[in-house]
This record gives sequence, structure tokens and C-alpha cells, in this order.
Amino acid sequence: MGINFIEFTNGHLPLYFTWASKPHVKNQWFREGYTPPEAILDKLKGDSSAFPFIIMLDGKEIGFIQYYHLTENDKEIFGEEVESTVGFDIFIGAEDYIGKGYGTEVVRKFAEKLLAPAGVGRVITDPFTDNKGAIRCYEKAGFSFVKTAKDNCGTEIYIMEKVKGELLI
Ligand SMILES: CC(C)(COP(=O)(O)OP(=O)(O)OC[C@H]1O[C@@H](n2cnc3c(N)ncnc32)[C@H](O)[C@@H]1OP(=O)(O)O)[C@@H](O)C(=O)NCCC(=O)NCCS
Repeated sequence: MGINFIEFTNGHLPLYFTWASKPHVKNQWFREGYTPPEAILDKLKGDSSAFPFIIMLDGKEIGFIQYYHLTENDKEIFGEEVESTVGFDIFIGAEDYIGKGYGTEVVRKFAEKLLAPAGVGRVITDPFTDNKGAIRCYEKAGFSFVKTAKDNCGTEIYIMEKVKGELLI
């Protein structure tokens, strides 16, 4: 399966907003009180700590993925190693592509890329604890449970990590 990641550009905005309005995406990403879809405009300008990409499957756009660097403020929830840790978030926007194993392959490949640079030793992600499909997907992609915590809106999140050494096993 041909998965690759292309840089998000202005041309992707209509598709992104269509995906963002779909219930399966909205319920996990854009609940009231969370960062709204419009924040993508700051990301495009580079005024954000997140780096956005479109997920391509055999030449077709199927979803969105981003990575971000952790900051000092994240230490309490994500641990002391913020400088060598990157986080990621994902959604598959096209419903036809959900639950078919693509998410697992996408996450595995993206994590491999994130762990490649010398300075990066750990990738983390933080689905809502009730997002069983995402948690299962990340487990299949080699992520392990770290702990649960509360996010800034008070929702329980399920922190998972993949560390560099695990790639060599
Ligand atoms: C999360 C997401 C990226 C996963 O991608 P995907 O292609 O659907 O995932 P996969 O098909 O590779 O794996 C999903 C696994 O979860 C399982 N699953 C799905 N719903 C489940 C549920 N309610 N309870 C338990 N397991 C569930 C599937 O059976 C599958 O596991 P299996 O292969 O062992 O049967 C995708 O579903 C998505 O974009 N969802 C909406 C947005 C979202 O939740 N983003 C993540 C925010 S952290």
C-alpha cells in the first residue's frame, strides 16, 4: 500500500473543512472547548507549534496528520523528556477508509519518520480514553500505554508512547 505524507497547503483547506465537519472527526477533534478547525490557518502561517500534512494513499487524499514539539508546559502531563519527544495527532477524513487497517500503517510510518532524527527519542500521542478504535490502532502500530491524565478541558486522555529502541527489536 502506497502511503505518503505531503505538506498541507492552502489548496487543501476545502477538503480539510469538509472532513472537520464529519461526526467521526468532529467528535474526537473539534469538540466544544477544543482547538477549532480554523486553527489550521495559524498552522499554515507557521504561527503554531504543529506541522500539518495530508495523508496520501495510492495518490488519494484520505486524511490529516500533524506533529508538534512539546514545551516546558507539557512536562507535568507527558514527562521530563520534552526536548527529545514529539507528539502527533491524526484523523482519516474519508469514512470509506476507516477501520480497514490504513490508520495502523499510517501511524507506523509517520512514527518511524519522526523517530529518525538523532535528537528524537520518543513519540507520544494522547487519544481520549474512550476512543477505543484509536487506542487499538496505536497499539497495533507499536505504541504502549504510559498513563491516563486529564487534558486542559478535563477529559481523560490515554497517553501512549513509542521509543526509538523499540524500532530495533
Ligand atoms: C483513529 C483512526 C486514525 C484509526 O485508523 P483506522 O484505519 O480506523 O484504524 P485501523 O483499522 O488500523 O485499526 C483500528 C482497530 O480498532 C478496532 N476498533 C475500532 N473501534 C473499536 C472499538 N469501539 N472498540 C475496540 N476496538 C475498536 C478495530 O477493530 C481495529 O482493530 P483490529 O484490527 O484488531 O480489529 C481513525 O479511525 C480515525 O481517523 N478516527 C476518527 C478520528 C480519530 O479518532 N482520531 C484519533 C484522535 S486521537
